[in-house]
Amino acid sequence: MQERLKVDPYANDPGRWGHSFANLADLFVPCLDIVEPNAVLEVGAYAGDLTRVLLEWARERNARVIAVDPEPQTALIELSERCPELELIRSTSLEALTSVHLPEAVILDGDHNYYTVYHELKAIASRRSGDNFPLVLLHDVGWPHGWRDAYYVPERIPAEWRQPITEGGGLVPGERGTKPGGLPYKWVASQEGGPRNGVRTALEDFVAEQQGLRVAVVAAFFGFGVLWHEDAPWAQAIEQLVRPWSANAIVGRLERNRVWHLATTHTQRSALYELELEIQQVEDWLRKIESSRIFRTLRSVAGAFRSATRRAPSLSDGSRDEA
Ligand SMILES: C[S@@+](CC[C@H](N)C(=O)[O-])C[C@H]1O[C@@H](n2cnc3c(N)ncnc32)[C@H](O)[C@@H]1O
Repeated sequence: MQERLKVDPYANDPGRWGHSFANLADLFVPCLDIVEPNAVLEVGAYAGDLTRVLLEWARERNARVIAVDPEPQTALIELSERCPELELIRSTSLEALTSVHLPEAVILDGDHNYYTVYHELKAIASRRSGDNFPLVLLHDVGWPHGWRDAYYVPERIPAEWRQPITEGGGLVPGERGTKPGGLPYKWVASQEGGPRNGVRTALEDFVAEQQGLRVAVVAAFFGFGVLWHEDAPWAQAIEQLVRPWSANAIVGRLERNRVWHLATTHTQRSALYELELEIQQVEDWLRKIESSRIFRTLRSVAGAFRSATRRAPSLSDGSRDEA
């Protein structure tokens, strides 16, 4: 796979969190090969790390890529200016999904919260249902956003669908609340779990309301969800491809281990950073004390005292003279 399409998942991931969906290329590209859509719709495209892989795939197939993002990064804007086969739509998914060309393959990787994902899926199903339902690939169905909302712009989500939020909350696996020093997110639900919270919950609630939908979840790289209709012409081939991955306990164990190390290393780094700040503060105080007038006066008094005591005759010297 790596030889067939160029994948650079760390182009915009200097901390190597593995946050791009491009990390899952070895699995989603074969899915696209099976479905052979005439276009792929990517919801949430950021700097275009995944988009570049999709474009490579699309060029081989004479297909198109449609990227929807309300705040695309410069790299993605430049990519869209260079590549006529890429259409960049600057709007939110829920605005775009009512009118955009809806192809047979859709990737959902935008705002990772229940309201958005649930309504994205509803919008897709309202336009393509039954054996016409597309292959939908979802990112972030595992930890941390599977069962915990995050919001790019909280005000975009109706208040009654929003979880109580902790600004800049730190996340650590196994901790339902937030923790200082954990993996930092700008706007996250204060608590993990419960109804209407997280991407996985949205996926499961949506599937429970529909007939004939199939789901597979592969735990790798924050969780990869695959959703399709059992009557789709390619349904069996997709099932055969993804099921061994979703059933593989080792993949789940690897991911749990990976995110534990990711969060723990981040916590340790934050503690180290705090310590460095404190040391810097103490050094600043010492420098200030050293340069203060009172310290200089005390030092010269102490110096004068030392030399005076050195010059003064000792008692023992005197007693020797008398003898
Ligand atoms: C995790 S990044 C996408 C990463 C990209 N798919 C990749 O794998 O390289 C999420 C993106 O979703 C965009 N976004 C946020 N809210 C959105 C919404 N309501 N609709 C579509 N995109 C949204 C953000 O601007 C951000 O660029």
